[in-house]
Amino acid sequence: MKTYLAKILDWQSEEVVNQYDELPLWSSPFGTLLLDNFPIGAYEQYLDIGCGTGFPLIDISQRLGSQCKAYGIDPWHAAIKRARTKIETIGLRNIELIEEDASILPFQDERFDLVTSNLGINNFDNPLAVLTACHRVMKTGASFCATTNLNGTFQEFYDVFEKTLTELGLANKYEAEYSAHVNHRGTIRSMRKLLETGGFNIVKQIESSYQMRFLNGSAFLNYSVVIVGFIYPWRTMFDEEDKHIFFERFENNLNEYSKINGELKLTIPMAYFECRK
Ligand SMILES: C[S@@+](CC[C@H](N)C(=O)[O-])C[C@H]1O[C@@H](n2cnc3c(N)ncnc32)[C@H](O)[C@@H]1O
Repeated sequence: MKTYLAKILDWQSEEVVNQYDELPLWSSPFGTLLLDNFPIGAYEQYLDIGCGTGFPLIDISQRLGSQCKAYGIDPWHAAIKRARTKIETIGLRNIELIEEDASILPFQDERFDLVTSNLGINNFDNPLAVLTACHRVMKTGASFCATTNLNGTFQEFYDVFEKTLTELGLANKYEAEYSAHVNHRGTIRSMRKLLETGGFNIVKQIESSYQMRFLNGSAFLNYSVVIVGFIYPWRTMFDEEDKHIFFERFENNLNEYSKINGELKLTIPMAYFECRK
């Protein structure tokens, strides 16, 4: 009996609705880049690094077919729990989740045919340790495919940020914190160097970008995605007193910039790297 002739995923059920709500918007443009490009094959073993709530793990594992055993690894407890619920809801038996730091991959050498990571690399504390571990567990000739956002993310925002620091006479005081924060995002050059240092041979590189649009700075600064994923280093860069003075002026400056330009349009540069071992 073919499973798909009997399986029911009822779109009216709460479980299927939860699963249908599958992909964070922030992950989606990067995910599309990855899904459009990763090499498809009759693989036996697939690994997703930093799988979060299950993307692209759950999608790619289905695209590769049920004969392929898939693993997702991430230390984020609540996200792994959510990914597990999705996997159970869809009834996939070929996926295993591991709640761990990917710099310690609990696998034998030369095991995987494909390793992916969507928006992982610049979130890892020690990306080189993760890449070295990935390289170790990949078969010779296997593919490592990753997307990342790049230095220049929200460039328009950071231009106004710098202008505000200068206006308030805070540029020197926070120079080290500010440049460490901006430079934690890789450039094409630094990403290539990192991948090559990890032992990989880069066979494909695609650069792209998209824009996120907001009415103004107030709308952006209150955006839930910003509060979950971005605002923490902006807030903790400052002394308590400076923080309030800075954000008062900065929000006004962003709103002024938005008024002049008709909206706040922020650029997100992204890259896809495909490597072979
Ligand atoms: C921006 S999220 C991307 C999640 C998912 N791949 C997506 O596209 O929605 C980055 C992920 O990397 C994970 N992460 C951070 N450090 C990690 C590490 N050392 N090993 C594995 N995953 C890690 C985070 O927990 C988070 O789930």
